[in-house]
Amino acid sequence: MKKLPIFPPITNACGILSYLPVFEYLEEIGLKNMGAGVSKSSGPMEKLGNINPTVYWNGNVLMNSFALPSMEPEDFEKELEQYGGKIPLILSHYGNSPEDYARSVVRFDKYGIGHEINISCPNFEPGEKSVMKAMCNTEKGVGVIKAVRGVTDKPVITKLSPNEDYVAIAKAVAQYTDYIGCGNTIGPGLEIDPYSGYPILTGKFGGLSGDAIRPITMKMVHEIYQAVGDEVGIVASGGISKSEHIISYARLGASIFQIGTVLRGKNSKETVEFFNDLWDGVENILKELKKKSINEIIGENHVK
Ligand SMILES: Cc1cc2nc3c(=O)[nH]c(=O)nc-3n(C[C@H](O)[C@H](O)[C@H](O)COP(=O)(O)O)c2cc1C
Repeated sequence: MKKLPIFPPITNACGILSYLPVFEYLEEIGLKNMGAGVSKSSGPMEKLGNINPTVYWNGNVLMNSFALPSMEPEDFEKELEQYGGKIPLILSHYGNSPEDYARSVVRFDKYGIGHEINISCPNFEPGEKSVMKAMCNTEKGVGVIKAVRGVTDKPVITKLSPNEDYVAIAKAVAQYTDYIGCGNTIGPGLEIDPYSGYPILTGKFGGLSGDAIRPITMKMVHEIYQAVGDEVGIVASGGISKSEHIISYARLGASIFQIGTVLRGKNSKETVEFFNDLWDGVENILKELKKKSINEIIGENHVK
């Protein structure tokens, strides 16, 4: 397993803040404690995704039906060439076939410190087939990760879905990947407007994220750590909103922590303060636990 050289081991969750000018700006106004930035999943061609409304906050959970809007690879490459930030980049990719993923990884390899392979997005445009549903199974998953492993020496995160048979897929891809990402949004779910009867999201269904999904993602981290934790690292992404959640995820086996929905509604200054306080909080808890580093508690839970 190749480790991602990042400290603190905290990144944004893909799709949230995920644009290079945003990383540059946050750094300019004082962002310190984000070890790497994960770029928005990029694919084989420009894709608009669903039209708005694509995000719905029901007071407890966020539901999104973005369906992977992404720019032309040429345009993304221009942005990467011009990137002036110091925050290292982890590049996220989606595709329709192992070849799509491998092409994207080769093309952008030199711009990042590692790759996140998204085979787990539950959202799609009406009429479109769910590409990810097709990819997030053992056979297709192995095909994708094997193809990616063949074209990069950099650390690879395989981001799995909590909606699929993630333990089987994790076991099957463990020899080709450095990390398993746990997980993506859950569902998708549906809410309709009680007066009009129409779905609230244009894409009809939307993946769920935020505080409410954390117990499901924690279970996913736990099960994957039990299954393959000695072979790969684990990236936790699901409902992290305070330092304590990072400690709990670490105890369950995660070593990298991604921050997404909790940033909803925060302005840039609040976002910077959030990241900077989050890691300070982790260090304070570690001190209280008399641990020198977070590495000392990874996998140290009492749930067998
Ligand atoms: C608006 C939005 C867009 C997202 N876009 C992507 C994406 O492009 N690729 C991906 O792998 N995950 C994407 N995700 C999933 C997040 O990276 C993350 O795994 C998920 O939201 C759970 O973390 P959270 O509860 O902290 O938000 C997206 C999530 C949201 C809410």
